[in-house]
Amino acid sequence: MSLDDVTGFVCAGCGATLQASAHPFACPNRRAGDDVDHVLVRRDPASPPPWPTDGHPNPFVRWRRFLYAYDVGVHAGIPDGELRQLIIDLDAAVLEAGGRSFKVTPFAQSPKLSAAFGGDEVWVKDETQNVAGSHKARHLMGVAIHLEIMGQLGLDDGSLPLAIASCGNAALAASVVAAAADRALNVFIPTDANPKVVRALEDQGAYVNVCHRKAGVEGDPCYLDFRSAVGDDAMLPFCCQGPDCGLTVEGGQTLAWEMATELGWRKVTLDDLYVQVGGGALMSAVVRGFEQALQAGVIAALPRFHAVQTEGCYPVVRAWEKVTAKAFEQLGAALPEAWPDRARALAAAPEAVATVMAYARQHRSEFMRPWETPPHSLAHGILDDETYDWAAIVEGMLNTGGWPVLITDADLTEAVRMAQKDAKVKADATGASGLAGARVDRANHPAADGGKPRKIGVILSGVER
Ligand SMILES: Cc1ncc(COP(=O)(O)O)c(C=O)c1O
Ligand SMILES: [Zn+2]
Repeated sequence: MSLDDVTGFVCAGCGATLQASAHPFACPNRRAGDDVDHVLVRRDPASPPPWPTDGHPNPFVRWRRFLYAYDVGVHAGIPDGELRQLIIDLDAAVLEAGGRSFKVTPFAQSPKLSAAFGGDEVWVKDETQNVAGSHKARHLMGVAIHLEIMGQLGLDDGSLPLAIASCGNAALAASVVAAAADRALNVFIPTDANPKVVRALEDQGAYVNVCHRKAGVEGDPCYLDFRSAVGDDAMLPFCCQGPDCGLTVEGGQTLAWEMATELGWRKVTLDDLYVQVGGGALMSAVVRGFEQALQAGVIAALPRFHAVQTEGCYPVVRAWEKVTAKAFEQLGAALPEAWPDRARALAAAPEAVATVMAYARQHRSEFMRPWETPPHSLAHGILDDETYDWAAIVEGMLNTGGWPVLITDADLTEAVRMAQKDAKVKADATGASGLAGARVDRANHPAADGGKPRKIGVILSGVER
């Protein structure tokens, strides 16, 4: 076995490849202003590992063979038992730091929500009891396991501090996982961060950097300060944004692997899966994870993927509209008004979609631009002014015939009520925004699929604090 046999990464934007790497985070060719959508994505292995049957409660233990770092570790001669134990030990430290360990989270059909949807079958993934109260910790646990394994191999000496720009669920999750991994963490937060969150971060030992807007400089000051710290190689990106840390998507895939396993076991095929989108790592991971489950024969078909954003800020919806318009131009056909009609036509035209996506990845700013005005919504966790992982999301929708959904604050209030009353899950507005999208979409397109009841999946991704 040699490290050359490890399935490495390829940049979805410029095509650069990376084999066994201690820090497979950002594409080495990434340059400010080059308008290429650099994101490192792991290639599909020539022979993927078998889908696990061991039923270990910790998804990172159960699906360890799917992790890049595991592959590197095994190829460098570390036995499976040692790698397994390393994950178990890190998880024990997570439990000590944050009071919870990683466990496969509940995913089941909710009879009451299904009744409220008028006969659709609504399947709910409950992430509110996950480490630090949201799915975010999955992304960061994946990166932490990677760094631990690189440490074992002598490829990471643990000296560089970790960095993240966030003042919400991602920062809280990062602080717990970094504490467990015994790594210093810098959190870049805005001047108006919630004092309760700041205290929780400091209690976990994180260094909090307050970022001020600079006159004449556009963009999120926290993200800019984070980028400059990471760009100077002074810190490692411990974040939930694919372009800065391609590896972060992998840990998020555990969520889809869990869902697909349950669906496969119950012989259920979802028609539609609605995913709330902020920076985009969650949906990018979900799309990728379901694709892997399909390739492994665990599920019979992919659901239509739907990105959900708020009327206050919807950069990925705008990108989907631009890509679909360009694809119809390419086909020389009139652009249908209704989004499901566009989606259906393009799902049947994979070559046109591939051509337009290849173009879009080389002309990013034509499709993805930071939102121009200060965004507002009850779902503040998905107000990222830019959807960093937009291309994987738009492609996931186009390949499956899915379309995006826009929601209002009123929709969010109703979704939180339904999550809490019908599904008995204490999700907040961000966490329930996918559910809001499902409701709105069902109301907007009652006649889709001939009006037949559908099987719908939603992720209640974060707890009300
Ligand atoms: C609870 C919750 N759900 C969903 C999201 C969206 O995830 P992403 O930013 O990866 O799109 C976030 C992001 O902060 C979140 O906190
Ligand atoms: Zn690149």
